Amino acid sequence: MAVRRGYSALQMTLRWVIAILIGVAWYSGDGTARALRQRVTTGILGNTLHVRIGGAVFVLVLVRIIVRCIQGAQASEATGPAWQEMVATWAHRLLCVLMVLVPLAGAAAWYGHIAIAADLHPILANGLMVLALGHAAFAIWHHDVVKDVTLRRMSAQIADDKMPPCKARHPGSAVFINPDMVSASQHW
Ligand code: HEM
Repeated sequence: MAVRRGYSALQMTLRWVIAILIGVAWYSGDGTARALRQRVTTGILGNTLHVRIGGAVFVLVLVRIIVRCIQGAQASEATGPAWQEMVATWAHRLLCVLMVLVPLAGAAAWYGHIAIAADLHPILANGLMVLALGHAAFAIWHHDVVKDVTLRRMSAQIADDKMPPCKARHPGSAVFINPDMVSASQHW
């Protein structure tokens, strides 16, 4: 059986659905401050589209974290210098933290009427968007300039027998295939 690099179908689906929903949540945030004021002054409890979409992001991010814990994480196949790897690792961690914190701050503002959360939520949300767009730009840069599999492995599982050997593609790179992930990907 072919050894595969790449994420499982479930992980890839979650990644893209969450990315799209974050964009929709960000876009639909406009007017939520007014809705919140109305909610506080009139006491009418209704959820806006923004709250529903943001809530969906939160739930899916939790599912994604659980799936990642079960299926394992892919080893990086990037080939840049160590500092680039470190920046990428911390950017991913920050992205993950923000994907949890942004909806939590929104919920604290919406349901808890906590003023500081209402102030912080849009700032964190904008930070999340900047980071997510930077993340996408780097993935495209890897695909088009560095020409490695970073972007491809996010959209398709890659059979090793259909790829040139890693070391031939990236001289000097020590590509590590997580055995757990290999066996997990064979089940999806
Ligand atoms: C990843 C998910 C989310 C993103 C990207 C996001 C993004 C945003 C943005 C950009 C704004 C500012 C809009 C503007 O005034 O220009 C905003 C406002 C707001 N969002 Fe979210 N949001 C998310 C999740 C949530 C959730 C889950 C809730 C509630 C359960 C929520 C509640 C609010 C509230 C109450 C405001 C108004 C805050 C204020 O008073 O300024 N958001 N959101």
